[in-house]
Amino acid sequence: MIAYHAIVLLIATLTTTTFFPFVKAVTPADRANHECVILQSTIYCYGGAPRVPTEAISIVSHTTGLFYTLDLSQEKSVSDLETSWVEYTGQNVGPNNYFAMVAIPGENSFIIDGGRGGGGQTGPFIKNSTVIFNATGDGQFSTIRDGNHSVVDSHCGVYDPASNQAFFYGGRKSYEYSGLLGSEGFPDTMPIFDVFRSTWSLSRSTLRKLTQETRVNHKGVLGNDGNTIYYIGGIYPSAENPDGSVEYQYASMTQILTYNIQESTWGLETTSGLVPSSRIDHSLTLKPSTGEIVVYGGSPMGSGIPVPDYFYILDPGNMVWSNRSINASDDAQGAGARFGHAAVRAGNDTLFIIFGSTGQSDSSIHVLDIGSWSWVNKIVGFGSNGQPNTPPGGITPNDPSSDTSSGVSSGTIAGAVVGAVVGVCFF
Ligand SMILES: *[C@@H]1O[C@H](CO)[C@@H](O)[C@H](O)[C@H]1NC(C)=O
Ligand SMILES: *[C@@H]1O[C@H](CO)[C@@H](O)[C@H](O)[C@H]1NC(C)=O
Ligand SMILES: *[C@@H]1O[C@H](CO)[C@@H](O)[C@H](O)[C@H]1NC(C)=O
Ligand SMILES: *[C@@H]1O[C@H](CO)[C@@H](O)[C@H](O)[C@H]1NC(C)=O
Ligand SMILES: *[C@@H]1O[C@H](CO)[C@@H](O)[C@H](O)[C@H]1NC(C)=O
Ligand SMILES: *[C@@H]1O[C@H](CO)[C@@H](O)[C@H](O)[C@H]1NC(C)=O
Repeated sequence: MIAYHAIVLLIATLTTTTFFPFVKAVTPADRANHECVILQSTIYCYGGAPRVPTEAISIVSHTTGLFYTLDLSQEKSVSDLETSWVEYTGQNVGPNNYFAMVAIPGENSFIIDGGRGGGGQTGPFIKNSTVIFNATGDGQFSTIRDGNHSVVDSHCGVYDPASNQAFFYGGRKSYEYSGLLGSEGFPDTMPIFDVFRSTWSLSRSTLRKLTQETRVNHKGVLGNDGNTIYYIGGIYPSAENPDGSVEYQYASMTQILTYNIQESTWGLETTSGLVPSSRIDHSLTLKPSTGEIVVYGGSPMGSGIPVPDYFYILDPGNMVWSNRSINASDDAQGAGARFGHAAVRAGNDTLFIIFGSTGQSDSSIHVLDIGSWSWVNKIVGFGSNGQPNTPPGGITPNDPSSDTSSGVSSGTIAGAVVGAVVGVCFF
């Protein structure tokens, strides 16, 4: 037999092509009422809808450009991050807005539950009430059996790593199923998903209907004790009309609804201090080093513009609200007043405020250091453990050039796409 010595050729081929595939980096179209999570060192954003200052009766979702990822593993300027999104084109679960999305870090997965689908009151509605995306490998969506829980929108999801459960509180039964249901359109128990068993259950105690215990457009966050979920803001159905429609009132910012995971009990806690104005479509983030809860943005109900007082801190230790001016060092640009954005924390202190509407939706990213309370204009890069990379000096031997914004552009891809072309090295 003849021996072929093709190894040199093979190495040459692999070096020039296989090891250096090019991915198209883009800036997504402007949007709000999407959701984002972080898994390892990648942000995943799904869905959303363009928003304008006049509140449309029917907010219509984007139908293309639904699913994007953003790699945070490299040191990068925030302006470069804005053009570094990669669209995930493998599979999607259709247009959606006002859904709940929760990260399951231990499974490198996230869950999407409910939502308005295409938007508005006429659909198209979501096809899959609950799906899970496994980000390992090429990534894969699959459907979770719904366990008969109602499809709702404008609710929120919170994951508890200790019990490996995801809690989906509040919301409004989606139009397709509810029509005009009066207070019946608002769940009075909370569906709980056990990730390990892949089963659903309902919270034991029942919430009182037509009180601020059944909320819509609120947000929730797990406290530092790993046991208390805090639900803040939003609105609630306060009265039922004869035709089955409901009247809404603001949930009070001085009445924080809590859920005790171990005891399966609800509570209402009263706050004091500099109480924020009422709001919907804000974000909540835990600051792990202090246990403080950061409230960012929001809008009044039935409005297409944000509330002007966009930044508050709640200390759950004494239930006192405060706010502060955020330091804008190094000319870093702040996110300002906005709503319908996503807030994603990387490591302990780096808070990404992603897209949302300042009156007009946009596709901006802003980064707030919640350690020093200042807007920053670059990130250090994060490891697969989600923690910031060691600062310069601790560079790992395999670390490629830290300059990701230039030099690798092939220049052969037409400029029709927004953003830049960057090389990504897979090992
Ligand atoms: C996620 O996908 C990977 C690769 O296909 C697989 O090995 C892993 O078991 C999946 N995880 C779950 C929780 O299904
Ligand atoms: C979602 O539902 C559609 C229609 O029922 C189905 O064809 C599709 O496979 C589902 N998607 C996932 C990710 O399960
Ligand atoms: C869902 O509801 C149907 C009809 O009420 C019932 O037969 C079925 O057992 C329920 N499934 C689950 C998983 O609870
Ligand atoms: C993050 O905060 C927690 C709680 O204060 C602390 O235990 C941990 O060391 C911090 N991690 C880093 C990387 O600073
Ligand atoms: C801080 O609170 C005051 C009083 O409510 C408010 O006028 C101001 O806009 C708030 N600042 C921010 C950044 O939200
Ligand atoms: C703003 O932050 C920078 C960098 O952390 C710091 O040097 C400066 O003193 C801060 N300014 C204020 C007013 O806090």
